[in-house]
Amino acid sequence: MEVFICSDPLAVGERAAAVVLDALQKPAGEFPVLGVATGSSPLMLYAELGRLASEGEFDPTGVRAFALDEYVGLPKEHPESYWSTLMRTVCDTIGVLPENLHVPNGEAATEAELRARAADYDDRIDATGGIDVQILGIGTNGHLGFNEPGSSLSSRTRVKRLSAQTRTDNQRFFDDRDVPTHCVTQGLGTIRRARKLVLIATGAGKASAVEAAVEGPLTASCPASILQWHEHAVVVADEDAASALKNREYYDLAAAGM
Ligand code: F6R
Repeated sequence: MEVFICSDPLAVGERAAAVVLDALQKPAGEFPVLGVATGSSPLMLYAELGRLASEGEFDPTGVRAFALDEYVGLPKEHPESYWSTLMRTVCDTIGVLPENLHVPNGEAATEAELRARAADYDDRIDATGGIDVQILGIGTNGHLGFNEPGSSLSSRTRVKRLSAQTRTDNQRFFDDRDVPTHCVTQGLGTIRRARKLVLIATGAGKASAVEAAVEGPLTASCPASILQWHEHAVVVADEDAASALKNREYYDLAAAGM
């Protein structure tokens, strides 16, 4: 695992953008596939990717994007549905084409249909050739996507209940209603199939989760610890989010290169 510790969220966005752009380089004729997260953590990264796209540093129009998760029962048009959020942050800001954005379906008419469509999501990812680089945030409880503590390390995209902690954390996004109780989320097994993982963390509220994910045991009790099990995992954190890491000196030396 590579750990980059940056002075502030702006620098986190710049560093993460460099890692993501490198991973999106594909041979001529192949399109890059980007896994996208919602929430606050990747916003500086998206702003930086948008800036680079507007300066002609990369072409977002060929990018295929797959969301990590979606709320169940929240209309797609609600401003806080993950489809609406990603239309703003990934399509409007970066320039990914709306028809190339894929988000799990949280609105199926029946539970059986919801589950079937969740299962199909992994097939849709596989049909594109798989995700080149997956952008991730981390929950204060160590969740990855909406895989809450206790999630199977081999899980695939499926319907899950959100933890009380996650619903409390995400209430800040909703002023008109409670946070939905359920979601459709890529599984930890799905996330692990991406060729590269980039986890972004900012703020002191993430410090203990980042420490558990990077330096704690590999355990379903901290879903983000699956980064330790991935061949190409990168953590980009600001000083506050990195403040509980014990091996800081080593990460800084490794980041400085040979
Ligand atoms: C978002 C997602 C979540 C968030 C996490 C951190 O699609 O799957 O895992 O990345 O809850 O959220 P923020 O960045 O808002 O602190």
